Formats: sequence, structure tokens, C-alpha cells
Amino acid sequence: MRAMRDGAQGDVADPRLRFLAEEIGLAIEAYKPDQILRRLAGFMRLNGLSSLDQLKAEMRRDPEWRRRVYHHVTIHVTAFFRDPEYWDRLRTLIARSAPRPTWRVWSAAASNGAEALTIAMLFGELKLDVTILATDADPEILGSAREGFYRMEDLSGLSLSLQKRFFDAAEGGARVQPGLKRRVTYRVLDLLKDPYPTTPFDLIVCRNVLIYFHAPDRERIVGQLAGRLVPGGILFLGSTEVLLKPDAAGLTPELPSLYRYQPSPLATPTSGMR
Ligand SMILES: C[S@@+](CC[C@H](N)C(=O)[O-])C[C@H]1O[C@@H](n2cnc3c(N)ncnc32)[C@H](O)[C@@H]1O
Repeated sequence: MRAMRDGAQGDVADPRLRFLAEEIGLAIEAYKPDQILRRLAGFMRLNGLSSLDQLKAEMRRDPEWRRRVYHHVTIHVTAFFRDPEYWDRLRTLIARSAPRPTWRVWSAAASNGAEALTIAMLFGELKLDVTILATDADPEILGSAREGFYRMEDLSGLSLSLQKRFFDAAEGGARVQPGLKRRVTYRVLDLLKDPYPTTPFDLIVCRNVLIYFHAPDRERIVGQLAGRLVPGGILFLGSTEVLLKPDAAGLTPELPSLYRYQPSPLATPTSGMR
């Protein structure tokens, strides 16, 4: 991971951000402080606040402020088929994999659901059966994912034929069709502090979230994700999230950003990483 080369920056929380842990339970020691401070500065500008103390006071006073700050600091940029060439590589890897009656997939920082629906469409195109668990730490963004409504500009990464096949026109945008939607189950899950699902997955997609965390937390998460894969299962990370020591988690790089879980028969799945 590009950011993985920044080494262990230590998990001492920035004292300026301690109120975020107190008010909204954010695991601040795991996040890189500059990213969070930048997000807070943007939020304060938008809301006419000039200091963190002012922000803190508003958050203490009003739960609505707490909800809005949480939603703002967890960055939700996403897109259907984001970085398309990587989805092409995933297709290649799926074709190289042992056949399964149903693919069990986890989209582990799913944002507004575009990623989970991309997975559903990709498996639909490949005529493979799939069930998808889509999780995110932010309940609000998952609310919008569950609604399944997207503005026209959100659909720009999709060919017209996919738009026609999987979406119905709605005022101001389009709504995902029930047949695609029912492939996905949404659930709130914070990768830093919540228990992970116990069912093993054939594919875990965890893209563009590890970059926000310090190295030790990223490594711990990657180890835990690998431990949730079946042998031969695939881990799909973001394009800048290159693992330095994939073998420590039983992972073998197969194509850029795509790793195969091949645990050594002598090792426990996540040895040394939990
Ligand atoms: C930049 S978006 C990436 C969305 C999607 N994976 C993609 O690549 O298009 C990052 C997502 O991670 C979520 N997130 C941030 N911290 C998280 C955490 N500790 N656990 C789970 N999700 C988190 C945010 O709410 C946001 O929806």
C-alpha cells in the first residue's frame, strides 16, 4: 500500500481530535490526523464555525451535529466500476478460480452501495450466482445505499446497456431494480472495532478505506480480512493499497490490487496478525 510505506506512525491519538472519540466514538488513534483535520476544516467552513472548540460545543449540545460530523469525516467518494481496469482484472481472476455454486462476497467499506451493486452487476454479466454483504461504519451512508436511488451523474460509469438492464428511471435519477438489489444485504460494521462476520467469503472487496488508517491498523485489518476468506478466495484492495508483506497474511499477489488467500497448511489463517 502506498500509505503502507509510511511505516508505523504510532497509534497515539492527536489530542486535538480527542473530542471525536468522546462525542462520536471515532477510533481516532487509527485514522491519520491530517485527513480528519482537513475534513473538519471543510465542515467548519461550510457551517460558519471558526474553531474546533466551537465545533465541540455544538456537538455536545446537539446530537444532529454529532451525526453530521460523523457523516462528514467518513469520506464517501465512490463510483460504479471505480477504476474500471481493476474490475476487468477481477473478471480475469474469477475466471481462473474454481467454480462455486454461489459466490459469497463482502464489500467492506461500501459507502452508498455503488461498489456492492457493481459486484452484483459483474456477476450478473458473468452469469454467476452471488450474495453480497455490504458494510460501512457510517449508518447514514448505508441508509442511502438501502434506498437504492442514484442521480444521473452517479450512473456515468455505467454503460447504457447496464443502466437499462439494472435501473429504472426515477425523478432526478434512477432506482436500482429489485432483482439486483436483493443480492445485497447492508449492515453497519466498523472495521476498526466491530466483530467481523464469521461466515467465510469467496471474495472480499475492501477498497479505498485502508489509506485513511495508520500502518498497524491496516495490517491488523488485512490479517482479519484474510482470515475471513476461504482458501483460494480473493482479496480486492484499492489501487494505491499495495501490501508490502502479503505472505504474512497468507495472501499471494495475483494481479495488481488482487490477492489470493493461500494459507500455509501449517499456519493458522491470520497467524501473527490479529
Ligand atoms: C472513500 S469511501 C470508499 C468506498 C468504496 N469502497 C470505493 O472504493 O468506492 C470510504 C468508505 O469507508 C467508510 N469508512 C471509514 N472508516 C471506516 C471504518 N472504520 N470501518 C468501516 N468503514 C469505514 C466510509 O464511511 C466510506 O463510506
